[in-house]
Amino acid sequence: AVTPELEGVANSWSFEHNKDKYNNQNAVNEFIQRYHEGLLPRGEIFSLMYQQHFDEAVNFFHVLYSAVDYTTFYNTAVWARFNMNEMMFTYVFSVAVLHHPDTVGISLPPLYEVIPHFFFDTQMIYQAMQYKMSKDPTIHHSVVFPANHSQITSMHTTEPQVKTHYFTDDIGLNEFYFYFMNEVPYFMTSHEVGMPKGIRGELFLFVHKQLLVRYYFERLSNGLGEIEKFDWSQDFPVGYHPTISLPNGVPFPEREPWSPIPVEKYDYVQEIEDVESRIYEAINSGHVIDPNYKPVNIYSPGGLDILGNIIQGNADSYNPHLYGSFVHLAKKIFGFNVEPFGKYPIYPSVLEYFTTSMRDPAFYVLMKKVVNFYMQYKSHMPAYTHNELIFDGVTIEHVSVDQMITYFENFEADMSNALWVNNLSDAEHFSVKASEPRLTYKPFNYQIKITSGKNTNAVVRIFLGPKYDVHGHVLNITDNYMNFLEVDLFDVKLKVGNNVVERSSKDSVYVVPDETSSHMYMEKIKKSMKSGEPFTYEKRSSGFPERLFLPKGTKSGMPMQMFVYVSQYEGTPAWTYESPVWGTMFDDGKPMGFPLDRPVYGFNFTVPNMYFKDVTIYHKEIEELNLTI
Ligand SMILES: *[C@@H]1O[C@H](CO)[C@@H](O)[C@H](O)[C@H]1NC(C)=O
Ligand SMILES: *[C@@H]1O[C@H](CO)[C@@H](O)[C@H](O)[C@H]1NC(C)=O
Ligand SMILES: *[C@@H]1O[C@H](CO)[C@@H](O)[C@H](O)[C@H]1NC(C)=O
Ligand SMILES: *[C@@H]1O[C@H](CO)[C@@H](O)[C@H](O)[C@H]1NC(C)=O
Repeated sequence: AVTPELEGVANSWSFEHNKDKYNNQNAVNEFIQRYHEGLLPRGEIFSLMYQQHFDEAVNFFHVLYSAVDYTTFYNTAVWARFNMNEMMFTYVFSVAVLHHPDTVGISLPPLYEVIPHFFFDTQMIYQAMQYKMSKDPTIHHSVVFPANHSQITSMHTTEPQVKTHYFTDDIGLNEFYFYFMNEVPYFMTSHEVGMPKGIRGELFLFVHKQLLVRYYFERLSNGLGEIEKFDWSQDFPVGYHPTISLPNGVPFPEREPWSPIPVEKYDYVQEIEDVESRIYEAINSGHVIDPNYKPVNIYSPGGLDILGNIIQGNADSYNPHLYGSFVHLAKKIFGFNVEPFGKYPIYPSVLEYFTTSMRDPAFYVLMKKVVNFYMQYKSHMPAYTHNELIFDGVTIEHVSVDQMITYFENFEADMSNALWVNNLSDAEHFSVKASEPRLTYKPFNYQIKITSGKNTNAVVRIFLGPKYDVHGHVLNITDNYMNFLEVDLFDVKLKVGNNVVERSSKDSVYVVPDETSSHMYMEKIKKSMKSGEPFTYEKRSSGFPERLFLPKGTKSGMPMQMFVYVSQYEGTPAWTYESPVWGTMFDDGKPMGFPLDRPVYGFNFTVPNMYFKDVTIYHKEIEELNLTI
């Protein structure tokens, strides 16, 4: 909220007088010029997907990011909070906090509290505003509005994809995607953020494949089957009717099922067809063309990273002129939004924000195309040989898993920030919450019995995959290897003889527990300041929500398989990396998704150090559970 102290800082900060407080003085000079020319005004809608907005945001990012110390960072941010476009500020600030050396590890309030319009239904936002208008602003009010999904429910027959809305609209999932996409922002190189060489592009492909598979699980659970395929000359099969609106009240664009691509998108279609065929040419010929027309072999160590970067078209791309950005173009097309005439106003689609793109089923159609590049690349590599898969002397004897249960819990999220307030006292008198059912699960343990002929380090990989397709046919691993989700990866020490590895789903490196609300966070800080006890919190600022560890089960049980694989590990990784989203990452010399990253022959894909275990996921009503969490 606006306090006089903050306003004081905002009014007195001068870039001209503090140029020496920034490492990147070019950025500061450019920013001063841009500012005098006129930046995107306050109140306008901002999206990184528009060139002018992008340029301004990136320029300001370099200013904030190059602040020499915390005080400068703080003053710059406060100045921007009062003087820049609100949405641009929020974006740049969130990303800068993630990366600036003086703010790394600082935990920001959950994004859904900061920008509720991007997370909560328009209906609820209106209810909240109406409520505020009708109440005496001099006394305290606290209220909870239940979500009303009647609109969504009524669409089940015409747009069956909405059956998975509890997943695609999940506030934790959408927040995760924002942080994942800004772990290395589009406009920064992996070198700048200190990410080890050669993983950015592979991580981009691997994580999107994981998200696609995770979404596919929800489809299976709801009887939906494969994600729609799409060709650029076709009408677009999947519709989308957003339930959220932009903060200025303008609705996000809609799309009816089987709509023709709008005429004003034809230039993008032309461009993306070219880009797509160039990428396939690179994959099939084995070479990416660099800016000097030299072929660069991509079937070599680091080759997949090169491929991933050209597909995303990020700052590490070898040749942005030739390969453009496939993902960017596809979002422009699938969004079905009106193209702006000038700098603003813009009419972005949900696909043009990282915080909302996962809501639209078109996102998964797009990701399927991206993942197809990845799979095509891997299909040109030889299948793993027996020697590459075996771990001599090591056998998984048995795997046992506790019951897997999912359910919906009601979650109350603070959306007070959606209210219009006149002053600080106004803001302090209203607390408005949205209550929504969220998918969650009962944490479970599993046990892996391993015999080993030697004392050795090992890496264990755990996957979850479908057992049947949507028609009830048993899936053979030959056709199903790509549908396995890697749910955990960890190292263990094995001793000669019998070993029992105990693990909880909560331990998974890929998930994080629920975020603390900013209210709770403040309470904890206050308590700690009063008592003098140290205040501790997670170093990792965001991640995939643990709640979504399992896909929604069914009443009679959804059959799935767990795949466990143990491999040799030297014990000293080639690199380790502290990722703000994935925690401590380490390299055991294997590609991401190993050993299911390459095509598998069902008839000989068997070694003693792998194990398939049938599991069943049940979905229960919260009342049926005897919860002791
Ligand atoms: C939900 O919204 C519909 C119409 O939009 C309305 O008829 C219904 O009463 C609402 N339900 C609740 C519980 O508010
Ligand atoms: C399975 O057979 C294929 C085709 O002959 C071969 O390339 C591959 O190495 C074999 N894999 C294993 C694990 O034996
Ligand atoms: C804050 O705004 C409210 C109207 O929403 C008004 O009633 C109140 O007097 C204002 N308080 C101050 C301190 O200006
Ligand atoms: C998968 O198919 C192969 C033949 O292609 C067969 O040898 C193998 O037993 C099948 N696996 C399962 C689990 O049914």
